Amino acid sequence: MDRMTARPRPVIAIDGPVGAGKSTVARALARLLQFAYLNTGAMYRAVAIAARASGIDPDDPALAERLAPMLERVSITFDGERVLLDGRDVSGEVSAPAIGDLASRLSTLAVVRARMREAQRAAGRDGGIVMEGRDIGTAIFPDAEFKFFLTADVNVRAQRRFAELAARGERVTFAAVLAELRERDRRDQERELAPLRRAPDAIEIDATALSVSAVVDAMKLRIDQARRGEKDLKRT
Ligand code: DC
Repeated sequence: MDRMTARPRPVIAIDGPVGAGKSTVARALARLLQFAYLNTGAMYRAVAIAARASGIDPDDPALAERLAPMLERVSITFDGERVLLDGRDVSGEVSAPAIGDLASRLSTLAVVRARMREAQRAAGRDGGIVMEGRDIGTAIFPDAEFKFFLTADVNVRAQRRFAELAARGERVTFAAVLAELRERDRRDQERELAPLRRAPDAIEIDATALSVSAVVDAMKLRIDQARRGEKDLKRT
């Protein structure tokens, strides 16, 4: 993978559609490598919470102009796994399906993506980070040292998502979860700016029939092999 900038440690990009297991895998991989972990979807979700709290109407024809001042002002930070919006813990709200849907809608806007890009590039400047999202390997860190694209069959993804929501006590049907997931896939893939795509140099892993630990092991193996190769090269 091409490298445009010298970083002390690598950036590991994990992209893929909703429900493929990116968060669980990225978190586990970060822990194994003792790297930082950044869930960029949670940042878009925090923007959605802020927009809703500011009374911004997503159907407003002047949506981008309405969002701009809020985006300038708002602070999105992480305290371990917790997402803080202007210092307030919003971890409980970020995972709500309505927030995911609003985040996906707002993420089509250039003004939102520009703000996120800046923050995400700053977070990964020195590497040593596992960053998961939709456009990390294609737009945020096209020069990431490791890129993975995690997919899974849409029915399996919907099933996992449904189980997750049901366990949290959300009253949803499988059919509704599947329909919402298909719609989100469509929007994330068809949007004009930084659409969800596999970077040409990303390693694709289909997690349909794989456990979390099998996916993490496969990733770790690729990383260890490449790092060993780099060390050998330095020695010669
Ligand atoms: O990963 P997630 O489901 O929490 O992300 C919510 C939405 O945020 C997703 O549908 C599209 C948007 N998103 C994005 O556009 N780019 C990213 N890197 C991460 C998320």
